[in-house]
Amino acid sequence: MSRELKVLQIILVLLVTLSLSTTYSNGKLIPKGAAVFDSSGFAILTNTTKHSYGQLVNHEPFYMKDVNFSIDFLFGIVPEHNHSASHGMAFVLSPTRHLPGASSGQYLGLFNETNNGNASNNLIAIELDIHKDQEFGDIDDNHVGININGLRSVLSAPAGYYDDKDGSFKNLSLISGKVLRISIVYSLVDKQLNVTLCPAEFSVPPLKPLLSLNRDLSSLLLEDMYYGFTASTGSTGALHYMLAVFSTDNPENPLWDLNAIPVLPPYPKKPSHTARTVLVVCLTLSVIAAFVASWIGSVFYLRHKKVKEVLEEWEIQYGPHRFAYKELFNATKGFKEKQLLGNGGFGQVYRGTLPEFLRTGRATTSTDVYAFGLVMLEVVCGRRLIERRAAENEEFLVDWILELWENGKIFDAAEESIRQEQHRGEIELVLKLGVLCSHQAETIRPDMSAVMRMLNGVSQLPDNLLDVVTDERLRGRPEISMEVLLDMNSMSRLTFTHSFISHGR
Ligand SMILES: *[C@@H]1O[C@H](CO)[C@@H](O)[C@H](O)[C@H]1NC(C)=O
Ligand SMILES: *[C@@H]1O[C@H](CO)[C@@H](O)[C@H](O)[C@H]1NC(C)=O
Ligand SMILES: *[C@@H]1O[C@H](CO)[C@@H](O)[C@H](O)[C@H]1NC(C)=O
Ligand SMILES: *[C@@H]1O[C@H](CO)[C@@H](O)[C@H](O)[C@H]1NC(C)=O
Ligand SMILES: *[C@@H]1O[C@H](CO)[C@@H](O)[C@H](O)[C@H]1NC(C)=O
Ligand SMILES: *[C@@H]1O[C@H](CO)[C@@H](O)[C@H](O)[C@H]1NC(C)=O
Ligand SMILES: *[C@@H]1O[C@H](CO)[C@@H](O)[C@H](O)[C@H]1NC(C)=O
Repeated sequence: MSRELKVLQIILVLLVTLSLSTTYSNGKLIPKGAAVFDSSGFAILTNTTKHSYGQLVNHEPFYMKDVNFSIDFLFGIVPEHNHSASHGMAFVLSPTRHLPGASSGQYLGLFNETNNGNASNNLIAIELDIHKDQEFGDIDDNHVGININGLRSVLSAPAGYYDDKDGSFKNLSLISGKVLRISIVYSLVDKQLNVTLCPAEFSVPPLKPLLSLNRDLSSLLLEDMYYGFTASTGSTGALHYMLAVFSTDNPENPLWDLNAIPVLPPYPKKPSHTARTVLVVCLTLSVIAAFVASWIGSVFYLRHKKVKEVLEEWEIQYGPHRFAYKELFNATKGFKEKQLLGNGGFGQVYRGTLPEFLRTGRATTSTDVYAFGLVMLEVVCGRRLIERRAAENEEFLVDWILELWENGKIFDAAEESIRQEQHRGEIELVLKLGVLCSHQAETIRPDMSAVMRMLNGVSQLPDNLLDVVTDERLRGRPEISMEVLLDMNSMSRLTFTHSFISHGR
């Protein structure tokens, strides 16, 4: 239950308590301990707290010296467990409003270990006991008893009633959760106290009482006597309801509506172990899920940030063309993608970028182009940059591709599974571009936007590209500026060719 609901419930109970405590014809019943008035106006003497007790005692005394009296009340006990009951409840007549030393458990909220049985208590109680306490000589765990000054009953009987028709005894369970009626009648002349139990539906109690105590109680019945109700719980719980109390002295006294005997709600279920376990597991899982989600989120964010840092103007300008790069990877499906990507294809590339970074001492846009070129080659050829187990001339991927290119067989460098004749043009383009991008001479590497234009067929590779990339002087002299010659923004086959020749020789 949410806190708000609980607060609301408490407020409601308080309001009902305030209004109902004034409605009892003979005065107010003041709750004490665990006792409360519920939203229906019924008093619940105990709550689900174990080893607790509750009391409900009238706020002012009644004159009971030398009178006949008759009191009826409706009650019900809802146990936590059907077969192992808690402790019972009692109707009490006391010379004091305060019951000193009231205790829980077998003391029923009436007495404690010290004052139990002490004649100075001056108490008469009718107990509705649902626990068999050997120490008090209880007959069973479902009995009605008449107690004087202590918990050892002066008279008791198993709960039930004698049928008016045939006089047969009918058992009743005190913990059925059904509403029952108790009728207590004392005759001054007969010096007799009768106690009768019956279902609440009975308009009049059976003629034969369950208990009939022949004893002069005048020494106990004083001028000022308080009446009340008590109940207690032990290691198992029970809710003890007191629904109505009235005197039948007056035959005109209106009784309750027999068609409206309330059905008591079941004992409140506390969250079971399973439910609690499920709750804990769910909470734990959601916490873990939240952690994983935020972790994945941050990884993606950092990655995205990194990619953003690496890619520059060309990407902003040619953003959609990144798909060409993606398509390249998609095209490699079917050959050793796992080995390539999982087995350090990128690691190779980045290592390639690093042996480059160390040489030039700076990371530049052309460094990214360099790495991109190597990735293209690794992916299309389906092998690493350096394959130690390969034939001597195939050991270094770029050198091997160059050699094939010089022999007019660059297409053969492509991985077998993608080496399809109808893709020859594209594959050769990617291979040549890869070689160009990963060229040792930083200055002849095209910028990324030029790479994208060529991959998309907007511009084309220069015819004399092979001469450019195999030029020994360029290979050895990366510092030679080729920027003017390789201004890819204005590049055409002819200008490129021409420019290179004019510069190179
Ligand atoms: C039961 O009543 C006692 C005494 O008033 C109180 O301390 C306790 O919190 C109540 N328990 C529940 C579950 O309401
Ligand atoms: C008590 O009841 C008896 C008869 O049942 C009657 O004779 C007697 O007067 C009553 N006593 C008082 C004090 O009402
Ligand atoms: C307990 O008793 C009630 C009422 O008699 C019944 O509805 C319920 O099924 C019983 N529960 C168990 C566990 O026996
Ligand atoms: C029982 O109650 C009386 C009166 O309140 C008190 O003096 C006494 O210490 C209590 N005994 C125990 C065992 O609690
Ligand atoms: C009974 O209670 C009274 C008052 O509390 C006390 O003085 C007396 O000693 C008690 N008697 C016994 C037998 O405990
Ligand atoms: C009534 O209860 C008693 C004791 O609990 C038992 O022995 C007896 O068989 C019950 N009678 C009926 C009719 O249930
Ligand atoms: C108690 O019950 C007996 C038996 O039914 C009856 O004769 C007697 O009048 C009753 N006494 C009182 C005070 O109701």
